[in-house]
Amino acid sequence: MSERTVLVTDSAESTRALAAAIAAHCVPGDVLLLAGDLGAGKTTFSQGFGRALGIDEPVTSPTFTLVRQYEVPVGPTGVRTLLHADVYRLDRLAEITDLGLGQLVEDGGVALVEWGDAAEPVLGDGALSVLLVTDPDDDDRRVITVAADGAAWADRWSALTSAIEPWRVDA
Ligand SMILES: Nc1ncnc2c1ncn2[C@@H]1O[C@H](COP(=O)(O)OP(=O)(O)OP(=O)(O)O)[C@@H](O)[C@H]1O
Ligand SMILES: [Mg+2]
Repeated sequence: MSERTVLVTDSAESTRALAAAIAAHCVPGDVLLLAGDLGAGKTTFSQGFGRALGIDEPVTSPTFTLVRQYEVPVGPTGVRTLLHADVYRLDRLAEITDLGLGQLVEDGGVALVEWGDAAEPVLGDGALSVLLVTDPDDDDRRVITVAADGAAWADRWSALTSAIEPWRVDA
């Protein structure tokens, strides 16, 4: 299976709301690879995602810590931990592997990986990719492509696309 959909948000809050809609469809073990240039909105997306899972503390950029871990209150997704990583400073795939994200998500976690496109060879199997691109003519507008390969999202894809319908431009 290989699916993709193209969305548009017109504010940071709209990107947070989109992330929240996606979070509602996540299950333990999921990895989301967040791609896009500096300031594209990867951390903003993560904030909306964390808020939707019921995390009260602010989700901030993990640039210098590499991975932040947040406990998720009991909720319908069954996700127990949100892992928020930023692999911008890592230049070898082995360093990304060493973060142990694969193992951590197996213990009931979901991982959001900023600059995750670089991690695709080691984390990409079954991952959901989210690419954010800033509109050169409008600072508040992002074109966001959500894509999934493989079996992990096959059963959920149609529910996911219904949930994110309000932001779709390719419908
Ligand atoms: N539609 C939008 N979606 C997301 N962010 C937006 C949007 N419009 C404006 N913004 C602003 O753009 C900035 C995005 O910053 P953010 O830290 O989320 O980017 P990032 O991709 O994580 O950057 P970095 O590569 O430095 O980690 C924020 O200041 C946010 O308020
Ligand atoms: Mg960031």
